[in-house]
Amino acid sequence: MYENFRTKELAVPTLFDPFSLKGATLRNRIAVSPMCQYSAADGVVNDWHLSHLAGLARGGAGLVTVEATAVSPEGRISPGCLGLWDDEQAKALAPAVDLIKSAGAVAGIQLAHAGRKGSANLPWEGDDHIPDDDPRGWPTISPSAVPLGGGLGKVPTEMTLADIARVRADFVSAAERARDLGFEWLNLHFAHGYLAQSFLSRHANQRTDSYGGSRENRARFLVETLRAVREVWPQDRPLTVRLGVIEFDGDDERTLTESIETARELKQEGMDLLDVSMGFSTVDSQIPWGPAMLGPYAGRVREEAGVPTSTSWRIRTPQQAEELVSTGKVDLVVLGTALLAEPHWPFRAARELGVPAPATTTLPVQYAHWLSRYDGA
Ligand SMILES: Cc1cc2nc3c(=O)[nH]c(=O)nc-3n(C[C@H](O)[C@H](O)[C@H](O)COP(=O)(O)O)c2cc1C
Repeated sequence: MYENFRTKELAVPTLFDPFSLKGATLRNRIAVSPMCQYSAADGVVNDWHLSHLAGLARGGAGLVTVEATAVSPEGRISPGCLGLWDDEQAKALAPAVDLIKSAGAVAGIQLAHAGRKGSANLPWEGDDHIPDDDPRGWPTISPSAVPLGGGLGKVPTEMTLADIARVRADFVSAAERARDLGFEWLNLHFAHGYLAQSFLSRHANQRTDSYGGSRENRARFLVETLRAVREVWPQDRPLTVRLGVIEFDGDDERTLTESIETARELKQEGMDLLDVSMGFSTVDSQIPWGPAMLGPYAGRVREEAGVPTSTSWRIRTPQQAEELVSTGKVDLVVLGTALLAEPHWPFRAARELGVPAPATTTLPVQYAHWLSRYDGA
């Protein structure tokens, strides 16, 4: 499949074809998923984050997206999450952009507000809500005063219209900071049961005003936030959204249909790509865990909403990734844990898929020089 790699226009896209979206060109169709490191103090990047991101970028992916970065203090998932609501945070984050770009990847960042899932303990300290009387925690907000449940049982405060306007403005300010830092790709975290997903979710949103009820009303916060961010985010840089398009709660066709309509609306407002993920808005979901399990849904969104897509979840092997791209389900594959296990996964994938010169295709010269005859040695 790769005999004429780089020299011939291939009808069917493959994993190691470059991917261009607006002004960004990725060297291949492998993206590093945003992954919280729960290692920051006061939202500020430190050496752990920088070495983590540099290592992943050196592994050869086309896009590296910085973890969910909160737009306000109460928008963090945990006290260890990154933030981009002040200048100190922006200054500390600046080297990440250079490290990612100098390793040949496109530098992306995900902006987020955790909503009712905020104020949580670090995953390795319980992954549940920090008790109300513990000063490390904070009051949470959500479209309605409905807790998620399970270990995340804290009751959020229902957002006023002023709260909605403030959070939208927080997204805009953080996007301006990301723009000024030179990030080339922005992802808005509208998935995984966090604030934006809670607006769209029938489980979390019980409002009776213009932000609740119909699909159009429940999508309003997402659409308005994207529209406001698009005004400050440069037109030539991709603006993308991660959306939970399915809950696996037994009402999946309705949720998928609503998600596809929302994707169309977001596209009209300037969204360039939708990362297809899960809603996580209820503790009663029955998730059918399996290899590349969201591929079919990503394909459906891509076809019915007419937007470029990416997806993650349980994509482990080069063959699975190649299949998702070559069958037109996604434009990009997004890898999380496979890259934590093996940051040079793209190099291995290139070797296994028979890409010519796999080392020089994926790795920086400092490594590629020595590994260019790796298989023959
Ligand atoms: C350590 C860790 C942190 C994560 N943090 C984020 C995050 O910041 N934003 C996000 O959208 N998803 C986050 N996720 C989900 C991943 O981005 C990814 O979608 C998920 O791990 C599934 O892909 P995988 O099967 O390749 O790991 C995280 C996952 C892990 C393992």
